[in-house]
Amino acid sequence: MSIISKAVRKPHRMFERSLNLYRLSRNGDRISRSIQQSVRAALKCSLTPEEEYWIDRVENLRTEMNSSTMQITRMDYGARNHDSNLKLDEMRAGVEVTDTLGHISQVASKPSFWCLLLFKLIRTIQPDSCIEMGTAVGLSAACQAAALTLNGHGSLVSLEGAASLADIARNNFQQLGLDSVTITVGNFQDTLADVLAARRPVDFVFIDGHHDEHATLAYFEQILPFLGETALLVFDDITWSEGMRRAWNTIAGDKRVGVTVDLGLVGLCIIDNSIIRHRNFNIPLH
Ligand SMILES: C[S@@+](CC[C@H](N)C(=O)[O-])C[C@H]1O[C@@H](n2cnc3c(N)ncnc32)[C@H](O)[C@@H]1O
Repeated sequence: MSIISKAVRKPHRMFERSLNLYRLSRNGDRISRSIQQSVRAALKCSLTPEEEYWIDRVENLRTEMNSSTMQITRMDYGARNHDSNLKLDEMRAGVEVTDTLGHISQVASKPSFWCLLLFKLIRTIQPDSCIEMGTAVGLSAACQAAALTLNGHGSLVSLEGAASLADIARNNFQQLGLDSVTITVGNFQDTLADVLAARRPVDFVFIDGHHDEHATLAYFEQILPFLGETALLVFDDITWSEGMRRAWNTIAGDKRVGVTVDLGLVGLCIIDNSIIRHRNFNIPLH
């Protein structure tokens, strides 16, 4: 692409993003408005001093985790590669992997911008019952729990298959003084049902593990009956593989969903029966 066409396209993309964010905010429902506010605040990194205090602490923890040379052996129950095409039974059996903590943290943890967006979504939506699928070393969970702490209500249960990672994450929450988050250890297929039953009505779910088309669609179906009247589902890595793209397209086309927002890497899915017109917004952020 020539320099001149790059120069024209960038402002055009930013204009389109602003316009679509504006259209989203005018959709008429509370969560669409909250998403618009959260995305704008995350893009501008607009934080109150109290928010900045927590985000800085989580980011300092990220630096510490990313540089750790400690060897960790963990069970991996996920899809493993973009094109692995494993059967659900093979993933369920898992595989033992050894890596440095630094490598796991760098590869698995959501980057700072997306953690900030999760934080802002929880600050604006003010959910009570939150679930995360996929804890790893606990960085995204720490951001969500910090937002709940500032909100003064609500709690998060984070699900993780690898007991060794859950121990690290638990230790991190303790170090940060976060008591609004707990971890349930085990394969999602074994733990999700009980956690959903205990947490209903669920307001906010971050699905960031087991990036497989069939597993993602199965979790979507499993979660739906346990949601509150309004809820937000956040799907990570919707472009990670062709299967994840297909799973997202199926979810985006499902008429039980009020609004979906495709942010590029992450897909947001609003459940709200008061939304009459099913709509899909495309607002790539990166
Ligand atoms: C991408 S990482 C989560 C990162 C974390 N949300 C963050 O941003 O800080 C995904 C995690 O999900 C876990 N996981 C994947 N498939 C799973 C399954 N079927 N059951 C339980 N845990 C699983 C992995 O062990 C891994 O730690």
